[in-house]
Amino acid sequence: MLTLYLFGIVQKHTKILLCLALGLTPILTGFAHAQTDLKRADFDGNRKINFQDFLAFVAVFGKTSSEQGFDSRMDFNGDNTINFQDFLAFVAVFGQSVELKDLADYPVGVSLQTKYLTDDARVSLIKRTFSSITGGWEMKPKPISTGPGTYDWRRADALVDFAEANNMQVHGHTLLWHQAVPTWMENFSGDDAAFEAAIKEYITTVVQRYRGRVVSWDVVNEGIDGRGKVRDNLFSQRMGNDYIARLFQYAREADPDVLLFYNDYGTSQPWARAKRAAMLNMIDDFQTRGIPIDGIGLQMHISYKSPDISAIRETIDEIVRRGLKLHISELDIRINPDGDLSEPTQERLELQKKRVIEIVTAFHQVPEAQRFGITIWGIADPDTWLIQAGRSQGRPEWPLLFDDHLQPKPAYDGFVEALQNKGF
Ligand code: XIL
Repeated sequence: MLTLYLFGIVQKHTKILLCLALGLTPILTGFAHAQTDLKRADFDGNRKINFQDFLAFVAVFGKTSSEQGFDSRMDFNGDNTINFQDFLAFVAVFGQSVELKDLADYPVGVSLQTKYLTDDARVSLIKRTFSSITGGWEMKPKPISTGPGTYDWRRADALVDFAEANNMQVHGHTLLWHQAVPTWMENFSGDDAAFEAAIKEYITTVVQRYRGRVVSWDVVNEGIDGRGKVRDNLFSQRMGNDYIARLFQYAREADPDVLLFYNDYGTSQPWARAKRAAMLNMIDDFQTRGIPIDGIGLQMHISYKSPDISAIRETIDEIVRRGLKLHISELDIRINPDGDLSEPTQERLELQKKRVIEIVTAFHQVPEAQRFGITIWGIADPDTWLIQAGRSQGRPEWPLLFDDHLQPKPAYDGFVEALQNKGF
């Protein structure tokens, strides 16, 4: 009876009810976070809390658990009756989306290769989920730099065009990395000054080409080794240990506005104390000398069990204390680091979810102005570099937010939950 009555109201006063629902939303948001979660209120499963969901809710209003049609998903307050409290909880999330990019007030990014741009399912997943992209390979020197002063822009352009067409930002990765060195750099026959001039020319050209189209660049990737020394590689050999500072200056000269990041891995691992100290010293040194640096990228290739979140928080705090922006730049979470699984288990997937919540929550504790964003290192599990680049030593691995069928995993829900608990 009550249901029929409510249906009548809905039909007659659709607009008024919608306005009421939307108007109450901000007032009730706090209430709703204690009472419900977005995913649960998405009865029709289209990842938006919309009018269809509202109708579904209204249709069972007043039912108790003993009656037919009772839907426990709608019993947000758990009292076995779909009542006004549940209605308020539902209304408070009306109009919201369950997608990461809509829930976050900072960029949520993904790394991808141009080959995925012709994969419709992946493209649609990327468009609805993420607000930032990073090239997994295409914006590194090896694919771009075909010789001194010669360039192949095709793949990098395709990524930037894709981002622009879909309202996403681009994080440039990376101007220099010892694992993506073009052959001509390795074989460079000129002297060290000529080598540095060629590197400067490369950085200047790339940064200027994407000026205004790329919001940020990792200037140097993994420039410090595990002992806390400037990594012994072609660049330090040719340009000396202070080369990192000069490359930041060259990038800044090329674009006064682009954000400049130093990006590295493992900095919260127990084995990396010297490395982390060296990275923090480098920041202090840059700041003392007036070398431009805007942020730090923590790659965050971690596992379900290590490193401890307290160590990650310590590293984050040190970066925040120095006033820099923080980028969780390459998040993936291995659930099979010891190779004991041949299939993902529910238990491990839940532990992976717990890790996502820990990381995202730690990120939310960074002051807003220093929150650069979180980038996931790959679209769906089969795409992970850990398998494709042979880093999981033949072990199967499922480190990302979406599964083999592109369905969101518990890890994805963990991200959503962490965003909801933040209360914006
Ligand atoms: C990886 C890409 O994901 C692979 O597709 C590519 O073959 C090699 O590089 N740390 C980094 C990233 O900073 O650039 C690496 O990306 C993964 C480790």
